[in-house]
Amino acid sequence: MIERSKTVMNDLVAAIRNVMLKHEITNEELRFAVKYLKETANTEFELELMMENFFEITTAHVTNNKNSGSASNIAGPFFLEDAPDIGSEGEIKTLEEGEHLPIVIRGQIKDLAGKPISGVKLDVWHSTPRGTYSGVHEGIPSEYYRAKLTTDEMGYYKVRTTKPVPYQIPDNGNTGRLLKSMGRHAWRPAHVHFKAHKPGLQEHITQVYFNGEDYVDSDCCEAVIDELVIPFVEENGEQVIIKNFVLDAA
Ligand code: BEZ
Ligand code: FE
Repeated sequence: MIERSKTVMNDLVAAIRNVMLKHEITNEELRFAVKYLKETANTEFELELMMENFFEITTAHVTNNKNSGSASNIAGPFFLEDAPDIGSEGEIKTLEEGEHLPIVIRGQIKDLAGKPISGVKLDVWHSTPRGTYSGVHEGIPSEYYRAKLTTDEMGYYKVRTTKPVPYQIPDNGNTGRLLKSMGRHAWRPAHVHFKAHKPGLQEHITQVYFNGEDYVDSDCCEAVIDELVIPFVEENGEQVIIKNFVLDAA
């Protein structure tokens, strides 16, 4: 750990110094940055949000560079443990209010050798049709818009839910202000989050995005990876997203 800290932190300090020299950062600007970071750390949830927005995708790229299975992606701050268990096939509880499009998400989970994996716990969570998250934003109990599936003996899962929509990450704090000062917006494209785990396999966190939709090309988290942009297909009159997984061994 000390060796790693020595290598990484010396590089990090050198990289920041290079940026400071390149842009002729003044002492006033350094003091402003310190105040900004202090204020961010002292505001509940804000430092986590800032780090997740700007840097979580980089840890996903590090994972993807080492792995051979499906692409990992960011988790974001809205995962909750203890989502309702619905077996290998079922429905996510949704509120029927407002406009919403029913969708099906289904797929199969295999290992690197192509063998279907049964008994994988697969958390699925996504926004409401209003762009909020249950158990986080007010008025939506946490058992809605999230579920825990378990793949069947052939590695299959299938879940019915409603289509998530693009939403703005909380933008009234220092993360939103920083994005704005960088000439960027705070929108994420519509997406579905997944977390797959089973002993002996690497925990796999990812998302899917929808082909051709708003903000796919300008995600505030810069987290969209081509492999994870998926088209809807129509099956028996239903709009279906097929998300298969290949999981790396632990
Ligand atoms: C999300 O995908 O839920 C998310 C990711 C980073 C920051 C905020 C939200
Ligand atoms: Fe999200």
